[in-house]
Amino acid sequence: MKNTTSYSSDTFLVEGGTSLKGKVRVSGAKNASLPIIFSTILTKERCVIEDVPDLLDVKNACELIHLLGAEGERLDGKVLIDPSGVRSSETPESIVKKMRASVLSMGPLLARFGKARVALPGGCSIGARPIDQHLKFFVSAGAQVSVRGGYVNIEIERKRPVEFEFELITVTGTENALIYLSGVEGRSVLKNIALEPEVIDLIEVLRKMGASIELEGRTAIVEGSGELRGFEHRVIPDRIEAGTLMVAGVLTDGEVELENVIPEHLGAVIEKLKYAGAEVEMLEGGVRVRRKGELRPLEIVTEEFPGFPTDMQAQFMVMLAVTPGRSMVYESIFENRFQHVYELRKMGARIDIRGRSAYIEGVEELRGAEVISTDLRASASLVLAGLIARGTTLIRDIYHLDRGYEKLEEKLNRLGASVERLPALVS
Ligand code: EPU
Repeated sequence: MKNTTSYSSDTFLVEGGTSLKGKVRVSGAKNASLPIIFSTILTKERCVIEDVPDLLDVKNACELIHLLGAEGERLDGKVLIDPSGVRSSETPESIVKKMRASVLSMGPLLARFGKARVALPGGCSIGARPIDQHLKFFVSAGAQVSVRGGYVNIEIERKRPVEFEFELITVTGTENALIYLSGVEGRSVLKNIALEPEVIDLIEVLRKMGASIELEGRTAIVEGSGELRGFEHRVIPDRIEAGTLMVAGVLTDGEVELENVIPEHLGAVIEKLKYAGAEVEMLEGGVRVRRKGELRPLEIVTEEFPGFPTDMQAQFMVMLAVTPGRSMVYESIFENRFQHVYELRKMGARIDIRGRSAYIEGVEELRGAEVISTDLRASASLVLAGLIARGTTLIRDIYHLDRGYEKLEEKLNRLGASVERLPALVS
């Protein structure tokens, strides 16, 4: 294996071959923390958010609201935010480039100031990822929306209630609309909304702030207020981190116990794991997983919650890569989310991509190789592949993983894995 220390981002060195055994605690959810941090812009009162994971994306979100004028600090796993000083309504390109979720600043800025100027996020490695639904919502709410010089300018003269139906289900689109409407007096109706657990957690927060939000299937009835309160809230556990660690346990033929898990958030994942041959035991506030026998092939179609999450597709593909027989994964949410496949092939996986489908022919074993992270969940899948590969796997550009998994290598090592972080020499 080559000398690795000259990379400009951290690298992981994974020694394969250990069965993971033991107990770890799952962190708070990244994708719940981000909209909750942005929703603090709605109020002038102090907000306390508990169990916020210490991640690059969270730091970026805190940096953004700080740039807007908020004060904040992290204390014993809590993020304390005083948003009273927010004066600016502009989210600069420098921060949007680092984190797409910065588009979530549109809703609260528009609610608080009647205007928002937010840099446009470009496409990313998992696809074009347009924000047309966010903008259509703001237009239907009566806003003027224009795009100039890479920025979206949104202005509204008079905030009024709205009835809007999303043309497709979007998680951050739903969150932007819910946050905005919570700051608007009167009864609004949003149809065809996302119901991901992270959206429901945000709704809990918006209710604590004083908005009334009723859910009827995929319809939300929102009655907002011009005077929203501060709040205290503990974010839900990260269901994708939990799912990733569950797959790690099954994949390595180990036995893993996870604390801080809400199994109802993982229904589709647990169902597929059981079908593949895992035993999943529900505990008080947690789960225990182990493999029961030989793994069985699966057919997976990614869908909006409560369907199988796109954010778990890459991790399952590693398991299917070493499962005897032929499996299939259909990615229905993002158009380009198979980047990990090219890297897994370097490790000996036999996977064919046809359009949005991946056909996986199980092989006996994966071999260690030098691979590159391309996005957050692809990185996680490469770490999982490294855990079962023969020999050493070197994973470059680990910063993708650091955006969304809190101390993953420490958690895996506590379960017996051998994952070493080689720090970047040049930053
Ligand atoms: N879409 C549009 N127009 C829009 C919005 C979305 O065409 O205005 C399309 C997207 O291109 C995509 C589909 O609709 O094909 C769903 O996108 P969605 O808006 O739901 O995704 P998102 O809100 O940008 C969130 C998570 C993602 C997760 C997806 C799907 C956050 C911060 N991000 O993204 O998480 O994959 O929902 O569940 O909540 C991750 O954590 O690794 C991650 C990518």
